[in-house]
Amino acid sequence: MQTVNDAGGLRAVVGRWRRDGQRVAFVPTMGNLHQGHLELVRRAARLAERVVVSIFVNPTQFGPGEDFDAYPRTLEDDRELLQRESTDLLFTPGVETLYPGGTQQTTRIEVPGMSRGLCDAFRPGHFEGVATVVARLFNLVQPDVAVFGEKDYQQLAVIRRMVRDLCWPIDIEGVATVREADGLAMSSRNRYLDEAQRRRAPRLYQTLCEVAESLRSAPAAHEALEARAMESLEQAGFVPEYVSIRHADTLLPLAPGERPAVVLAAARLGSARLIDNVRV
Ligand code: PAF
Repeated sequence: MQTVNDAGGLRAVVGRWRRDGQRVAFVPTMGNLHQGHLELVRRAARLAERVVVSIFVNPTQFGPGEDFDAYPRTLEDDRELLQRESTDLLFTPGVETLYPGGTQQTTRIEVPGMSRGLCDAFRPGHFEGVATVVARLFNLVQPDVAVFGEKDYQQLAVIRRMVRDLCWPIDIEGVATVREADGLAMSSRNRYLDEAQRRRAPRLYQTLCEVAESLRSAPAAHEALEARAMESLEQAGFVPEYVSIRHADTLLPLAPGERPAVVLAAARLGSARLIDNVRV
């Protein structure tokens, strides 16, 4: 596995592969890799001859007072994990490569419909930061296919829409959430949980499964199901931000009985903000 941190080095390597007619799969990450990320890399390796993984903790997707400074940076461990997977190239750009005009002055990408509501209501500007950095990474790597986790469901929808709107010839592949044995979705932010919080954390997934089960068994008023789930999370010690039943493709609210549906939630537990979703 090669590591490059500048755009020229990246282009030289990827250009060589392209001239040899090899397809390139790309997995953008913020590092602190866990099994969930490694699943993305494994899927990437099945989709193309060459796999590029990037690690960059993107400042523009963190709001004021969020965990940008505290976000775990574990480059050496990450490199070791990637070396054991089929990663051909690790791209570790600095902020000056991705934001040559500074984070405030660089052109930004906004994906209005998909970005609104859900997480955006609690993290304004977050998806603009994600879309902006992913757009720049896509332009630098020029992959044939890019792989993202379904845990960040709204992020995946925003990226799919951006790629469609900008006519980029990139396939976007979603990979099912990887869970701990007790159901908790794997996330770099799980390390913010203390022991007692960690024991409680799977309740988020259980609550989403209960809502999904209710939806499957009988058409019900979505607001009532969402409100009951919020209450149950509060009782379990979470500070829930939202529980929402949406159309799985458009993320718009949907009528009872309409499919495909997804139940999405975000909730705080101590200093961790957890998100999860279940398809119906
Ligand atoms: O999902 C993530 O880790 C990040 O949001 C991404 C897609 C790498 C953009 O910084």
